[in-house]
Amino acid sequence: MERFRPPRVFVTRRLPGDALDRLAARAALRVWPDALPPPRDTLLAEAREADGLITLLTDRVDEDLLAQAPHLRAVSNVAVGHDNIDVAACTARRIPVGNTPGVLTETTADFAFALLMGLARRVAEADAYVRAGHWRTWDPSLLLGTDLHGATLGLVGLGAIGVAVARRARGFGMRVLYVSRRARPDLEAALGLVRVDKGRLLTESDFISLHVPLNEGTRHWLGRAEFAAMKPGALLVNTSRGQVVDQAALVDALASGHLGGAALDVTDPEPLPLDSPLLRLPRVLLAPHIASASHTTRGRMASMAVDNLLAALEGRRPPHCVNP
Ligand code: DGY
Repeated sequence: MERFRPPRVFVTRRLPGDALDRLAARAALRVWPDALPPPRDTLLAEAREADGLITLLTDRVDEDLLAQAPHLRAVSNVAVGHDNIDVAACTARRIPVGNTPGVLTETTADFAFALLMGLARRVAEADAYVRAGHWRTWDPSLLLGTDLHGATLGLVGLGAIGVAVARRARGFGMRVLYVSRRARPDLEAALGLVRVDKGRLLTESDFISLHVPLNEGTRHWLGRAEFAAMKPGALLVNTSRGQVVDQAALVDALASGHLGGAALDVTDPEPLPLDSPLLRLPRVLLAPHIASASHTTRGRMASMAVDNLLAALEGRRPPHCVNP
């Protein structure tokens, strides 16, 4: 009689919360212990033996990996985005791919709004100013910023996170425009949003915030022509993916002063190299891809990733599955 063998699962990083304990009770688990992602060779070697993989957006799951992973039956990404995974190649091999939508929506929208406000009101510059000992008196012209109330916010993408940002913006008295493949008349009525084309969004927005997944249709959605079309002094917030923006064009738009500033949680590449001009430009607010990083949300993402993986290993469709 064949003995039951628990599925072998490789997890590419330690995860917050207790989700991995739950997985350990049902699978033979190997967890990459370092703070940095496993080197490619290690990932390939682990995938060769694995029935399931729990991956992060730093881990590339492509044809090359799949071809060397004869036992692989499930991939579960601890992120809502899945541009690190070749979903079509997984689908062709009947490997379900899980992701973590929903649980990070509000947390990510909070951070997008924190960046927007931080950039508009120059919070990081103010902090640096005080710490550097420059504060000598109340100065009527010191660190003047941009008002949110009455300003126009242009949302690129109106998925769950875009909608959550729109709600916040309406609470702050902003006019909200959006571009999206799909019209949302329900939200236009409920939140007073206005659907416009790309040209109008660029020319009318005081702030632009990006909320689209990265794919061939959104790569470099903002390039030289788009920056040139933007309102002089407009501010950009990106919590989606770095490659949605042509970063060389962004640097030039900032350096010329046409763009008023940028707040970036995501860059191309990540991490941002220390010689990147973005680090030396004024009015640039940077964060290390932490928009979903609250204790609660990261714990929920880990838990959801484990649920997705276990379902797939048991032959069920994961509750959150990105394959068509
Ligand atoms: C995602 O989930 O795609 C974010 O970028 C990380 O939370």
